[in-house]
Amino acid sequence: MTKQRIAVIGGTGPQGKGLGYRFARHGHDVIIGSRSAERAEPVADEVAARLEGLSGAGEVSGAANVDACGQADVVLLAVPYDGHDELVASLPLAGKTVISCVNPLGFDKRGAYGLVVDGGEGSAAESAQRLAPEATVVGAFHNVSAVGLWSEDEFLDEDVLCVGDSDEGKQIAMDLARAVTGREGISAGKLRLARQLEPFTAVLISINRKYKAHSGVRITGLPDQD
Ligand SMILES: NC(=O)c1ccc[n+]([C@@H]2O[C@H](COP(=O)([O-])OP(=O)(O)OC[C@H]3O[C@@H](n4cnc5c(N)ncnc54)[C@H](OP(=O)(O)O)[C@@H]3O)[C@@H](O)[C@H]2O)c1
Repeated sequence: MTKQRIAVIGGTGPQGKGLGYRFARHGHDVIIGSRSAERAEPVADEVAARLEGLSGAGEVSGAANVDACGQADVVLLAVPYDGHDELVASLPLAGKTVISCVNPLGFDKRGAYGLVVDGGEGSAAESAQRLAPEATVVGAFHNVSAVGLWSEDEFLDEDVLCVGDSDEGKQIAMDLARAVTGREGISAGKLRLARQLEPFTAVLISINRKYKAHSGVRITGLPDQD
């Protein structure tokens, strides 16, 4: 395993905190980011407390989003789509591998639905790549739920679908997926396929509502993965 130093932007929310916890539990160092360092620090302490006594866990600290990026090679974007573009444009992302799990979703009385981004020809991940052209943007972890991530389960019985235009960047996300599922993530295509992965989460939310469950995605028919 290549140990990574990962900044989690929006790490005070359930998705960022949950992924940060999983990454640190698997030996990566994690910096929980927030618009305010004062909000990041107690969340970092909460994650670190959960890892206490676990041999091989990585270090967890908290920082303002910009400082967290400065300290990391890999940056996870775990913020709401609302305000995403302004935030991404403000971050020092050049040269970093940036993983986006951002889902542009709307909710109305019929439930969750995917928002149309750039007239159907874009996605949050592609917006991040456009706003940070010198970063390598990958889409991954869109369909894993925060509840599962923060659970006691050692691994989630799900697959992490990873999309990106750089094989090297995608491989970093695929390796990080091991921290969540115990298996390498699945190489699921080019970055533009984030247009399918992001709104698919609305389908999982509908399933969860119907079955009172925490559903996930599992791909069958692949050669054995280790
Ligand atoms: N929750 C899930 O189960 C789940 C599953 C899969 C994917 N996702 C995706 O992961 C992302 C994060 O989800 P979440 O549920 O953790 O979201 P969240 O709790 O609504 O937001 C996460 C953090 O983002 C920061 N934030 C909020 N508004 C912001 C803005 N306008 N500009 C910059 N930062 C802002 C806040 O941190 P500070 O105030 O500390 O800066 C907040 O704690 C979303 O795009 C979501 O679609 C979520």
